[in-house]
Amino acid sequence: MRHFLSALLLLSATAFAADGSQLLQQQCAQCHALSAPPQTSIDRLWSRKGPDLYYAGDKFQRNWLVAWLQAPVRIRPGGEFYRHHLKDGADGDAIDETTLTPHVKLDKDSAVAVADALLALHTPAPVESGAYKGAAVSATMGAMFFGKLRGCAACHQDAPGKGGMSGPELYTASSRLNADYVYSYIKHPQAFDAHVWMPDAGLGESDLQRLTGYLMQLKSGAKP
Ligand code: HEC
Ligand code: HEC
Repeated sequence: MRHFLSALLLLSATAFAADGSQLLQQQCAQCHALSAPPQTSIDRLWSRKGPDLYYAGDKFQRNWLVAWLQAPVRIRPGGEFYRHHLKDGADGDAIDETTLTPHVKLDKDSAVAVADALLALHTPAPVESGAYKGAAVSATMGAMFFGKLRGCAACHQDAPGKGGMSGPELYTASSRLNADYVYSYIKHPQAFDAHVWMPDAGLGESDLQRLTGYLMQLKSGAKP
């Protein structure tokens, strides 16, 4: 009888404590890769139902992750994958908002558990710890490089509604992303996925510091 009771107690305890890894498998794995795919291809990227999360631990800031999972807002203006959400607009392609669905929401306990499970996911992704030096960047210079000189704004927004639609917005980078991840991604996007269509611009160290600094210092990203 005592054995039976303690087994019962154990069962109910595991049923109530949110198990992050289990939640990930049950509610997230159908849309997100949680481990590095054995092989990647442009087809895999274009048919993904959600962005890859297997290097989440290298990428996200915890506070942002916990908050976003409870109240998700759009990051990719064109969804994933944006070409599936285009309609013919008067002035070329536009995003058909009606085809974009809201993201699943978690309660606080589940969000915390899931965030911690995600932050434990690392890959050999080449995030150079301490690569970003944090020097102050002139916002005007940064914007000029992001927009005109290095062409980032063709795919990314550095303010709501300003910039391209095919990449994730970057105006919340400073609360969402780790600075060393931003630096490493800009340095060599194909190290994260050999087929990702962000071009490797072959940027030198001063450009990498300037662009990372510009994004990490954007004020719109300062609040979670
Ligand atoms: C039906 C598919 C689907 C399911 C299920 C789903 N997601 Fe997502 N998820 C998406 C899409 C699509 C995006 C991109 C949203 C955007 O960019 O606005 C996304 C974005 C994210 C992001 C931000 C990733 C980034 O790189 O910007 C995180 C974190 C995330 N999801 C976590 C989760 C977790 C945790 C679960 C399970 C509780 C989950 N998702 C379930 C489709 C899904
Ligand atoms: C042709 C389109 C394109 C151009 C141009 C481009 N990017 Fe990207 N960028 C992408 C895509 C696509 C991703 C990966 C999105 C994903 O994994 O969902 C990405 C990812 C990123 C990330 C990681 C963000 C995240 O949420 O994971 C950063 C930072 C970034 N780009 C910065 C830049 C900078 C700075 C430039 C200019 C030097 C630039 N990008 C130019 C398309 C582009």
